Amino acid sequence: CGIVGYIGSKEAVSVLVGGLEKLEYRGYDSAGVAIPGEDGIEVIKKEGRLTVLKDRLNGQSYSANVGIGHTRWATHGKPSDENAHPHTDCTGKFAVVHNGIIENYLNLKDWLQWQGHTFASQTDTEVLPHLIEHFYDGDLVEAVLKAVSKLEGSYAMVVVSSHEPNKLVAVRQDSPLVIGLGDGEYFLASDIPAFLNYTRHTYVLNDGEVAVLETGQINIMDKNCNPVNKDVFEVNWEAKQAEKSGYDHFMLKEIFEQPKAIRDTIRGRITADNSEVVLEEVKMTPEEIKGLKKIFISACGTAYHAGIVGKYVIEKLARIPVEVDIASEFRYRHPIIEPGTLVIIISQSGETADTLAALREARRQGARVVAVTNVVGSSVSREADDVIYTWAGPEIAVASTKAYTTQLLSMFLLAVRLATVRGEMKPEEAKEIINEMKMLDTKAQAILDNSVEMREYARELARSKCVFFLGRGLDYAVAMEGSLKLKEISYIHAEAYAAGELKHGTLALIEEDVPVVALTTQDDLFDKMVSNIQEVNARGAAVLALATDGRTEVEKVAGRTSYIPKTHPVLAPVLAVIPLQLLAYHTAVERGCDVDKPRNLAKSVTVE
Ligand code: G6P
Repeated sequence: CGIVGYIGSKEAVSVLVGGLEKLEYRGYDSAGVAIPGEDGIEVIKKEGRLTVLKDRLNGQSYSANVGIGHTRWATHGKPSDENAHPHTDCTGKFAVVHNGIIENYLNLKDWLQWQGHTFASQTDTEVLPHLIEHFYDGDLVEAVLKAVSKLEGSYAMVVVSSHEPNKLVAVRQDSPLVIGLGDGEYFLASDIPAFLNYTRHTYVLNDGEVAVLETGQINIMDKNCNPVNKDVFEVNWEAKQAEKSGYDHFMLKEIFEQPKAIRDTIRGRITADNSEVVLEEVKMTPEEIKGLKKIFISACGTAYHAGIVGKYVIEKLARIPVEVDIASEFRYRHPIIEPGTLVIIISQSGETADTLAALREARRQGARVVAVTNVVGSSVSREADDVIYTWAGPEIAVASTKAYTTQLLSMFLLAVRLATVRGEMKPEEAKEIINEMKMLDTKAQAILDNSVEMREYARELARSKCVFFLGRGLDYAVAMEGSLKLKEISYIHAEAYAAGELKHGTLALIEEDVPVVALTTQDDLFDKMVSNIQEVNARGAAVLALATDGRTEVEKVAGRTSYIPKTHPVLAPVLAVIPLQLLAYHTAVERGCDVDKPRNLAKSVTVE
């Protein structure tokens, strides 16, 4: 979900709606705003995309200069007008927007109902305004703090009351909340793009902190009302970066931003003579690095796929055993974390609930945690021992692209660093990989410059019911990501298979004209891949091979071949994934799908 708040001299409703537009990627099944009036709170909320709310608000003018807003992704209670936020209490004098889950809401609801409160929705959130009303005795902050003390679960919430109409009270626990500091005005939001048109000066609220916003005045305190001094965080990316800049979709824009994102992520992390990786943010001593016995990587979705590449690369270069776990599995399978274990957590948003839970489990068991994340100040970044930021800039499309490639870069940098410190990599080898890494941006650009090829192929693919992606080694890891991209945005069933495993089952599904995308970028596995392509050819499959420049032999077996520039085989995933991203994108467009907001999915899943 996305939450916003505003207090200042502007017309609050239009500022709130503008903010919600930027946060729609966090959830989009219903939206609403609330403003305090003389007799109570006015709430306007509608099921459906934000445009439904905008149509409802259209043509009306609201004079309030204070308000809160929300865009929802349903957890408790289906998408509906009643379940949309903001939620109010029975008196209609308190309204709340909330992101997260109140785990003990059923108990609280029973208790409140017993006290005479009646509820209008099926949400967990609705207990909040009722609780605050119950505790209100002339001081909104005090009432909010009392209510918060009863809560179990995660929340970022903003409260407004017509009893104290020139005030917003915000608290957070395990869900993100940032404050924009304007000139005599303040903004609250789940993410910075919501107010970037107005200010670049921000406070990042920490767990347990309470912000009290009044016109021209802001106070931040801890749960015991002790004042907290915050550092101002200056946003250094441009507002237009968070918008589409002329592309039809955020996803396409983000695919095309990859050369820059690659450059930004490498920048400052290798020595001027390209001989060494300097990853200062990983503050492990050489002794600690040499003492590493085991690495776990844990993440969800696309970030998990980056983790699989990380495993291959770290094991190959640094010779440390690596296990990769889907974050929602990691903590429940009782992982064996012993001294000398490093846990790497990968998360674009840094807020994914399952990933955060894996991080906490790792720390609870005493592991050192390195986080790879794209969001400065995110929960993951704050709770890890060390943070490698991917400098991809904001990623808006639900399907992750530039975050993935920069996560791969982070894996390469870390692997080279670990390998050199442990003496597993000779200086010449390190130099060779680093040199190749520095050329990835231009090579990625070359692929993008020829993107028309994938657009043409997408026209054919768009008519398919099922597509198979095959690869071996690192190509298998990329095949998984290519397959996920296609299915999440085009809704075509896609499966990734380790090409060698094909004959143990999947081959039964290959028949006349079934599309197969075969990756052949790994030199040492090339011949084996050619054999696998022949196996599917023999069953009538329509094969698109993805090969490295010069390996034209593959054309003898594949119906179509697309080439990517040659690089060090370990780095090939960064280039190989780009045609697959383009393929998924153009196929989804061809099928008329909502590319940036695929059905049933959300960008940032902050519930387990
Ligand atoms: C959601 C998104 C995916 C993303 C995953 C992990 O499911 O739809 O695109 O890969 O979360 O997100 P994270 O922010 O932790 O990388």
